[in-house]
Amino acid sequence: MLCLGIESSCDDTCVALLDGATVIAHAASSQIKLHALFGGVVPEVASREHAKRIGLLCRHVFEEGRCNPKDVGLVAVTRGPGLLGSLLVGVSFAKSFALGMGIPIIGVDHLHAHLLVAALEHSVEFPALGLLVSGGHTLLCRIEDPKNIKVLGRTLDDAAGEAFDKAGKMLGLPYPAGRHIDELSRKGVCDNTLFPRPYLNNDTLDFSFSGLKTAMQSHLSLHPLYGVGFDPLTGELIIPKGQEQLLYDLCASYTGAVVDTLKIKTARALALQEGIRSVILAGGVAANSFLRDAIETLAKEHGVAFYAPRLGYCADNAVMVAYLGSLLYTMGYKHDLAFEAIPRGRGIPNDMISIDSLA
Ligand code: KG4
Ligand code: ZN
Repeated sequence: MLCLGIESSCDDTCVALLDGATVIAHAASSQIKLHALFGGVVPEVASREHAKRIGLLCRHVFEEGRCNPKDVGLVAVTRGPGLLGSLLVGVSFAKSFALGMGIPIIGVDHLHAHLLVAALEHSVEFPALGLLVSGGHTLLCRIEDPKNIKVLGRTLDDAAGEAFDKAGKMLGLPYPAGRHIDELSRKGVCDNTLFPRPYLNNDTLDFSFSGLKTAMQSHLSLHPLYGVGFDPLTGELIIPKGQEQLLYDLCASYTGAVVDTLKIKTARALALQEGIRSVILAGGVAANSFLRDAIETLAKEHGVAFYAPRLGYCADNAVMVAYLGSLLYTMGYKHDLAFEAIPRGRGIPNDMISIDSLA
């Protein structure tokens, strides 16, 4: 069955067409350049941009996939967590489409969609341990199946991606800085003593990354970097001569601290959770080369499989939304048209309707 997937939870407008596990077409329209001018996402601007772009993007995907809206049998849309105004654009668009075409709709948890997209291209063994690391979230989860996902630990303050983005801002790098810090780190040498591995001296699976940015600030106040910046039009990095190796090594040491911290807590979760058969790494920060290697090595050491989505499906996308929506619908679930968009900070209610109970 052809599923139309829609994602608008933050600053990317994304639409996808999926037939089972086959991606027919997908497209994303990033607002990064617009928000980069402000150094972070401006919610009001984001909603207005989604409203401007979503219809055109949808038409583009139908053209690219050589499909007709009448071919669609299911609409899946991100219902949360995210920026409320942004979510409402996607949810309203999806509801109108479903109502107009007389087809079922399902509202998808954005975080669950990130976690499950690895299963689109791999036959993942469950129960799985999921490590979700993005710009807004850091979660450790036990995934029994696509509907039963239990949070074991989460960040108490900054997310892993935020730790990269905030450090990047201090270093003079463009937003979002994660990708740049990753690339710069590859040319540097990690000094394990430079930054702490925060919030490990406890017996929870929670994280706290906010101290790391303070550590970066303190380091820079004693050892400032001079003239690092970027061209606001092209985003190209500007690194003055003599500052290169200092920047590379600093990035490598900071990346080391984030990656080690994530690895240590993931190892603790693996030791505590019974019957885990695989580890899934997901979210925008799952694109980080050091983290992918570290978690893959950890999984091997524990004798379980490792899965991560291909790089194109790590960041926000609508393929993951259409895929999870299709999985849940196949398991017998959907929503009625009254389901709500849920902003960040509020739990996503379990309010799906069983298709069998309607029959
Ligand atoms: O999942 P995502 O696209 O959006 C959210 O739902 O947050 O994640 C975006 C985050 C940003 O913080 C960005 O800096 C980070 O992912 N990121 C990376 C890398 N690529 C993106 N962080 C570290 N290394 C990367 N290669
Ligand atoms: Zn995301």
